Amino acid sequence: MKIAVLPGDGIGPEVTREAVRVLEMLGLPGLTLFDGDVGGIAYKRHGQPLPEETLTIAHACDAVLFGAVGDPECDGLERKLRPEQAILGLRKHLGLFANLRPARVFAGLEHLSPLKPEIARTLDVMIVRELTGDIYFGDKGERAASDGSREGWDMMSYCETEVQRIARVAFRTARSRDCRVCSVDKANVLETSQVWRDTVKAAAGSHPDIELSHMYVDNAAMQIISNPAQFGVILTGNLFGDILSDLASAAVGSIGLLPSASMGDRATEFGRFGLYEPIHGSAPDIAGQGKANPMATILSAAMMLRHSFGREADAVRIETAVERALADGIRGGDLGGDHGTEEIGAAVRERL
Ligand code: NAD
Ligand code: IPM
Ligand code: MN
Repeated sequence: MKIAVLPGDGIGPEVTREAVRVLEMLGLPGLTLFDGDVGGIAYKRHGQPLPEETLTIAHACDAVLFGAVGDPECDGLERKLRPEQAILGLRKHLGLFANLRPARVFAGLEHLSPLKPEIARTLDVMIVRELTGDIYFGDKGERAASDGSREGWDMMSYCETEVQRIARVAFRTARSRDCRVCSVDKANVLETSQVWRDTVKAAAGSHPDIELSHMYVDNAAMQIISNPAQFGVILTGNLFGDILSDLASAAVGSIGLLPSASMGDRATEFGRFGLYEPIHGSAPDIAGQGKANPMATILSAAMMLRHSFGREADAVRIETAVERALADGIRGGDLGGDHGTEEIGAAVRERL
């Protein structure tokens, strides 16, 4: 079981360390870890946010455990040298078009959510976010506007084949839940979204067991907070999925709790190659202080065992340990507590 560990910047190394300790504790057969530099730290060491060597390591492994990238010192660099290009480049180079972001309020932990408990307890959604297209990867640039002022532009687009393959992932994912898929777009304004909606509708034709609905993204943002029970799987594009997943994390209680899995078509000896990362960033405001909540990264390691290594029982063990730690009052500052990163990691391992 070869895993590339790419900790990155800010709190990335702090939270990744705890997830690695959890993986090591499970006594997985043949577990071998390979470290690589990504993000601002890679730029500082190698002059590039995603060095060739790191890509080679990722390619040679069965899965990637990723921390976070982003460094305020690098925000002034030209875009292709910025830390964020590392994660975008990995997703693109590794063909990871499907991003699964589960957001669920654990039973008995409704009080962690800012929502009323009776609403919070109904939140259990899987956001299926397209990850290698949309305005993220279109042409972009800067030009002079007609009045001579600076004008920035970014091209948003989706083609049918990109939408078809992510829709199929959403439909398959919904089958292991309760078959409800809500496709979120902005078809009332955007041509990209009209093609998205038409394509999702057509793709649903060959999945008659799926109950498909459509919603505009502004309404979806409102509905996730006010009536989360209506959502099983949310199928959406790259930009909307990015925004809605941070929103959903706040409804759960903290961004420090949400894991993610990014998958493509590549098969490995064990199952399917994937990249696993918390949905949060490098949190420069708390980096280096031992305050970050590592649970999102630990839960990402659980998703790795489930989706890339076929080890459902181990995944559930990790998830249960996190849930118990929370139930026992273990909380980082993000949840109003004062447990540090290492303390939270140790508390989860004790409960494994
Ligand atoms: P962020 O997610 O890093 O932080 C947002 C807020 O949440 C901050 O107050 C932070 O302290 C808090 N937070 C985040 N994770 C936490 C955790 N595990 N425990 C406790 N608190 C936590 O978002 P941002 O501040 O907008 O971005 C910071 C940098 O991270 C930027 O450079 C951004 O581009 C980058 N970023 C990277 C990724 C990624 O690597 N996948 C994701 C998001 C943002
Ligand atoms: C995320 C992040 C990334 C994204 C950034 C850092 C490129 O916000 O993983 O959610 O926008 O996808
Ligand atoms: Mn994001």
